[in-house]
Amino acid sequence: MRIPLVAANWKMNGSREFAEQFFSALNLDGASCEVVVCPPFPYLPLVAEKAGEMVALGAQNLSEEVSGAFTGEVSASMLLDWGVRYAIVGHSERRSLYGESSEQVARKFVAAQTAGLTPILCVGESRQEREEGRTLEVIGRQLQAVAEVAGSDGWKCSVIAYEPVWAIGTGVTATPEQAQEVHRFIRGRLGDAGATVRILYGGSVKADNAESLFTQVDIDGALVGGASLKAEEFAKICRAAD
Ligand code: G3H
Repeated sequence: MRIPLVAANWKMNGSREFAEQFFSALNLDGASCEVVVCPPFPYLPLVAEKAGEMVALGAQNLSEEVSGAFTGEVSASMLLDWGVRYAIVGHSERRSLYGESSEQVARKFVAAQTAGLTPILCVGESRQEREEGRTLEVIGRQLQAVAEVAGSDGWKCSVIAYEPVWAIGTGVTATPEQAQEVHRFIRGRLGDAGATVRILYGGSVKADNAESLFTQVDIDGALVGGASLKAEEFAKICRAAD
């Protein structure tokens, strides 16, 4: 019922040459999931050209504004012009390094949807919040902030990514059971859309741990950072998601 989705978040990595080599090396034979690649903005047209039909294009961020005097920002309609279909919103690096509040994230979520993009909303707790037993409370609040702006129908046509902050880029992955507990909680908070919305896990996903995560009933794929920079490893993760 839910087609698995594996999304690559290249973050601020790569170059023209890297993107060309990545797609020459990427062999998705045997993968039946949907695949999304989110490169840095300048490489979106190149990725669109090289990826062809097999990969959908995603953006790592977007403005919550429609247009105007917002130097350095990129709007949802500009992303559509590039052929972008997905936009990551609320990544923990945006929240922690650039001070994006849950309210701003909510506005980005709505801006993406209004323009016809599918937002990939990232939520997740810090190590301290987990140790204090506040994981579900924190994630519930992050979801609520979006629901208040997007409305009860807002979860339709969205993807959620559970990314525990302590697992991002650390090599420490949540156990399948830890991830499943949070994914089940998230699904329960999505109302009627819960049955169809895909919930991805992100945080040190690698070829050798992807399969055990994907066996969990509420894990519908992955948002992959570091391992998405290696075409062969990324393809293995995609093949594990069926
Ligand atoms: O968006 C991707 C996540 O931040 C995960 O990154 O796979 O390098 O831990 P990672």
